[in-house]
Amino acid sequence: MLQPPLQVLISAATIQQRVAQLGATLTAHYQASEALLLVGLLRGSFMFMADLCRHIALPHEIDFIMATSYGQQTQSSGQVRLLKDLESEVANKDLLIVEDIVDSGRTLSQIQALLQQRSPKSLAICALLDKPSRRLVEVDVQWCGFTIPDHFVAGYGLDYAQQYRHLDFIGVLPPDISSQESGIGG
Ligand code: IMP
Ligand code: MG
Repeated sequence: MLQPPLQVLISAATIQQRVAQLGATLTAHYQASEALLLVGLLRGSFMFMADLCRHIALPHEIDFIMATSYGQQTQSSGQVRLLKDLESEVANKDLLIVEDIVDSGRTLSQIQALLQQRSPKSLAICALLDKPSRRLVEVDVQWCGFTIPDHFVAGYGLDYAQQYRHLDFIGVLPPDISSQESGIGG
């Protein structure tokens, strides 16, 4: 399949450096935690989760949740649908939601509300990327890797039409493609 090349926005080395920093910060923050559970949002967070957890030098569990708010459009429908729930118990654990990117904020705010109902000891968010200019719903992101301008990005777990997830860097699509209204998935 023909894939137009991405223009590098954040290199693999820069990502790795920042993820290591975040891991060190999280290790310090959760030092006294008795039960830490990382909750990744599929599919976009899988690569970030895999790298981040290796820099958290504490015992912890890992689980995943899958939600979708987009269908096949680039505009969020506003309704988050849960496609896969957690397997893990949440009550009395320190939950850290690990997300690829905060865009409108809808997905995270709804997932956060859902998990809050299950009585975690604490609930926080670590997102690799943040596009604050696109925010429609306020959401408290405690740790963020990079703040980026309003570009559609792919790579390092993030997709365009389910492609590019395997790349070790984050790139921007050529403008003629990213302006087309199609092809987003989790
Ligand atoms: P929100 O609910 O609008 O914040 O949507 C967040 C979700 O949309 C993310 O978890 C991504 O799956 C997807 N998304 C938002 N912006 C991008 C992007 O630039 N590239 C790839 N996926 C994106
Ligand atoms: Mg996602």
